[in-house]
Amino acid sequence: MIRYTDDLSEVRPDMLRGFFVGWPRHPSPAQHLAVLRGSYRAVIALDDTADADLIAGFVTMISDGVLTAFIPWLEVLPGYQDQGIGTELMRRVLAGTERFYSVDLVCDAELVPYYKRFGMLGTSGAVLRRPDALENNTPL
Ligand SMILES: CC(C)(COP(=O)(O)OP(=O)(O)OC[C@H]1O[C@@H](n2cnc3c(N)ncnc32)[C@H](O)[C@@H]1OP(=O)(O)O)[C@@H](O)C(=O)NCCC(=O)NCCS
Repeated sequence: MIRYTDDLSEVRPDMLRGFFVGWPRHPSPAQHLAVLRGSYRAVIALDDTADADLIAGFVTMISDGVLTAFIPWLEVLPGYQDQGIGTELMRRVLAGTERFYSVDLVCDAELVPYYKRFGMLGTSGAVLRRPDALENNTPL
């Protein structure tokens, strides 16, 4: 059964296996957990059936708490996709952010229609990416 929560106190790195699908280099589970804990908001979809004990999906938000928020990460494990988990994670992370002027994220063009379902607009942007930083970044 999938349970949604923003309580990360019981999450262990080994529950975060299988994410960052298709990345040639990706954050370690310990880095991943530090990302969740360091975020302004994080919501996880926990598969708490006895033999799973696994995070099936997660979303994070960073924010100044006044005007702006950014959603850097949303991912649902392949075996759990197309069951509405991403939609529920987005709904929960957006809840209560109505006071912010902007909530932004960056995605591939094919996903823009998905995010329009949550009232978001397609736009253009610019990004900086440093794959080497993944190896040189030890969580505190
Ligand atoms: C995108 C993602 C988070 C959606 O989560 P999900 O739980 O599978 O999605 P939901 O069940 O809430 O919604 C399913 C809908 O999203 C659509 N969708 C899923 N991935 C899509 C993609 N890459 N491009 C376009 N549409 C997509 C499905 O076609 C489906 O549409 P339908 O409702 O018309 O049938 C998930 O597919 C995922 O983790 N993908 C890999 C990582 C990723 O791309 N993350 C987003 C980074 S911005």
